[in-house]
Amino acid sequence: MEVKLENLSKVFPGTKGRPSTTAVDHMNLTIPDGQLVGLLGPSGCGKSTTLYMISGLHKPTEGKIFFGDQDVTNVPPEKRGIGLVFQNYALYPHLTVKQNIMFPLENIRPKMSKPEMVAIANEMAKLVDIDRYMDRKPKELSGGQQQRVAIARALAKKPQVLLLDEPLSNLDARLRLQTREEIKRIQRETGITTIFVTHDQEEAMSISDFIVVMKFGEIQQIGKPQDVYDEPANLFVAKFLGSPAINVFDGLIKNNRLYLNDKLVSNAGFVGKGELDLGSEDTYRVFTEKGFKGNYNDYLRIVYHFDEQNQNEETEKDKSSKDKKNDEPKIEKVYDKGEAITDREFQNIILERMELEGQKLQKLEVEEGLEKLREDNGLNRIVKIAVRPECFEIDEKGKIPVDIKNIEHIGRDVSIVGNISNQDNHVRILIPSELRSQLTTDQLYFSAKKYYVFETSGKRLK
Ligand SMILES: Nc1ncnc2c1ncn2[C@@H]1O[C@H](COP(=O)(O)OP(=O)(O)O)[C@@H](O)[C@H]1O
Ligand SMILES: [Mg+2]
Repeated sequence: MEVKLENLSKVFPGTKGRPSTTAVDHMNLTIPDGQLVGLLGPSGCGKSTTLYMISGLHKPTEGKIFFGDQDVTNVPPEKRGIGLVFQNYALYPHLTVKQNIMFPLENIRPKMSKPEMVAIANEMAKLVDIDRYMDRKPKELSGGQQQRVAIARALAKKPQVLLLDEPLSNLDARLRLQTREEIKRIQRETGITTIFVTHDQEEAMSISDFIVVMKFGEIQQIGKPQDVYDEPANLFVAKFLGSPAINVFDGLIKNNRLYLNDKLVSNAGFVGKGELDLGSEDTYRVFTEKGFKGNYNDYLRIVYHFDEQNQNEETEKDKSSKDKKNDEPKIEKVYDKGEAITDREFQNIILERMELEGQKLQKLEVEEGLEKLREDNGLNRIVKIAVRPECFEIDEKGKIPVDIKNIEHIGRDVSIVGNISNQDNHVRILIPSELRSQLTTDQLYFSAKKYYVFETSGKRLK
């Protein structure tokens, strides 16, 4: 059964003067039939609230929920055909495993016969591999076994959608791993559309066909686990996925290039075409401060002139100003308006123009003006460079100098903890243990096989 959330919101009203909480904020999501989707995010981001709205236990403040073509937004929970499993197994302690699994079948109308119910209980118990313990009480079972009973009970009514809210959180590490595999297997065998809520990124990554990463009630990214890991949409997602966590350092974008600690990391242009508007008032203002005395329209005329020459037409205004002035700037190259030009071209234009105005400007001053323009327009700025621990390579020509503080073995890898020179944050690097012998000094240079660049706001740039 396909599940579709349309513009779904839940606002909990504030009580006793406390502000209201927007737990889910205009969520749009389609979960294809038969898939297992992991709803992932930190505590309080709205995962449970989303699940309870899908189940019908919470009424949305806004938006709609569809199961297939049917709008179920106002359908009561018991009529939605869902199975729910919570973190605390919530089994009836005085009932046996069999009675627990059969319990939801008791109030089905028309009433089922006892043998029918027992048959279903046996089938479900087999499915979750608990059929040996049918006559035990919950307290005689391990946590993992209890959770399997809870899943069998949720499946007894053959739901169209299975909803699991942190079902593994109360299990110890080994059982958590085992039960996780079980859930995956059961989901595959039954083909039931399943929504699995967890705050544990590794759990979500390993079990899900695709994951939905949430923060503050909003979806950050949807995708296959590996794709989201490899191409995080923003800094939050990059940091939330992966253990050990991704390393983040400060970088600088200057003159369209990326620097780390004054070392050029990438020449790649970080500014799109035509983002610095030569005809803008800003440009005019900056160069006026530098000593340019012509008036604004004169300045603009040059910029427009490029354009008009290109289009072989001139406005009345240009014609009249041409008549007035014979010393029209000689422009060798014709630019399209909005075309990206190099620093040098820009400098030459400015210098030429200044000279025509009788102003002798130094190249350095033009560079400074350009620099200021970039800063004013947010084109030179601090950014975040992020590298996953496994993406470093020892490289004597590398751009990342690391002061090594500690080296330890983690499984087949060597983990290096240190600092990047001039930066506060720790960095953790994983390299294959064969390379251990290369770690001979306290400072080593690394390069990154892959890195991401984010605005300080978290928006991904590269
Ligand atoms: N019944 C409720 N009344 C008021 N606020 C609630 C209620 N349930 C959840 N919230 C708030 O909504 C936000 C999302 O909660 P929840 O969906 O439980 O998050 P998660 O399951 O991701 O940890 C939190 O800020 C939480 O405090
Ligand atoms: Mg929750």
